[in-house]
Amino acid sequence: MDDLAALKHATEAALAAASDLRAWDAVRVGVLGKNGSLTGLLKALGQVPAEQRRERGAAVNRLRDELADLVEARRAALEAAALEARLAAERADVTLPPPAIPAGSIHPISRTIEEMTAIFGAMGFTVGEGPDIETDWHNFSALNIPGHHPARADHDTFYLPGTRDGRPLVLRTHTSNVQIITLLTQEPPFRVIAPGRTYRADHDATHSPMFHQCEGIVVDRDITLAHLKGCLVDFLRAYFAQPDLKVRFRASYFPFTEPSMEVDIGWNRRTGEIGAGGDWLEILGSGMVHPRVLANCGLDPREWQGFAFGMGVERVAMLKHGIADLRPFYESDLRWLRHYGFSALAPAMLHEGL
Ligand code: DAH
Repeated sequence: MDDLAALKHATEAALAAASDLRAWDAVRVGVLGKNGSLTGLLKALGQVPAEQRRERGAAVNRLRDELADLVEARRAALEAAALEARLAAERADVTLPPPAIPAGSIHPISRTIEEMTAIFGAMGFTVGEGPDIETDWHNFSALNIPGHHPARADHDTFYLPGTRDGRPLVLRTHTSNVQIITLLTQEPPFRVIAPGRTYRADHDATHSPMFHQCEGIVVDRDITLAHLKGCLVDFLRAYFAQPDLKVRFRASYFPFTEPSMEVDIGWNRRTGEIGAGGDWLEILGSGMVHPRVLANCGLDPREWQGFAFGMGVERVAMLKHGIADLRPFYESDLRWLRHYGFSALAPAMLHEGL
């Protein structure tokens, strides 16, 4: 038996032995994949003496078509068998009472933080934390927002009585304090996200005095704007489960980043649909960590660079799930929670493998 007949034989036997789609896929890759045996034969054609190459080439190509047909036929058979098995196993007794209402569900905020952690986790980020009660140094000064800076007033800060280390206390107005905590406590290089509660004295349909943000900071040698862009584009496409989502970086200003950029995604202003229509929606703030912020935390900005970003958790949850009003997030109304909550076992609605 020549080598081509032997390969056909062996493939037939392996396919017959593959009893599920996983095993089937291993056979498929082993034969037709980039390093598969048939692919090897095709690659080796260049070494065949010229006078035999034509005949050998035709034979190998014929074999490739045959093997592709065999592989496909086995897949169809396995899928049909799997469906049969499910149909036989999943029987519903319509005389039984309806199933009990589940006792609880995952809140959309928890769920969104879980999804962010999963996506950034796959990019090598760990999760950091900081206190909700923070010194005004961590919340503002160390982030290059000095006492007279208008950003302090813009943040509608809740000031608290008392001090820590002689510094006045605030309820943190953003998760950016975790940038400072991370810079002070971790040796670079690092990649950290920090989801958590934030507070501002503001209350209407789109603002709550307590809300959530997710911060991110990456510090390493030779970090550039390209890293920031790649990271955030990948995150947004994964989170909104749209591999082609349009993303735009727009020059902006934050005291703690230079340059700073706001990031917009494509959406339809009329329908609210993400990714459709010709409009842009601002979704997060970002930039290269300001050299002064690094220096405030004892790092040499000529040696270390980084990027940072911050986004509203409720905001991206509302956009993804079509939730119109912010207030019910905190009202514990069971009807809302049952409608917008998630089953603990529901698969994540993310785009994986970007
Ligand atoms: N802290 C900003 C806010 O509360 C958001 C933000 C913007 C965070 C840019 C960042 C950043 O890390 O780089 O609105």
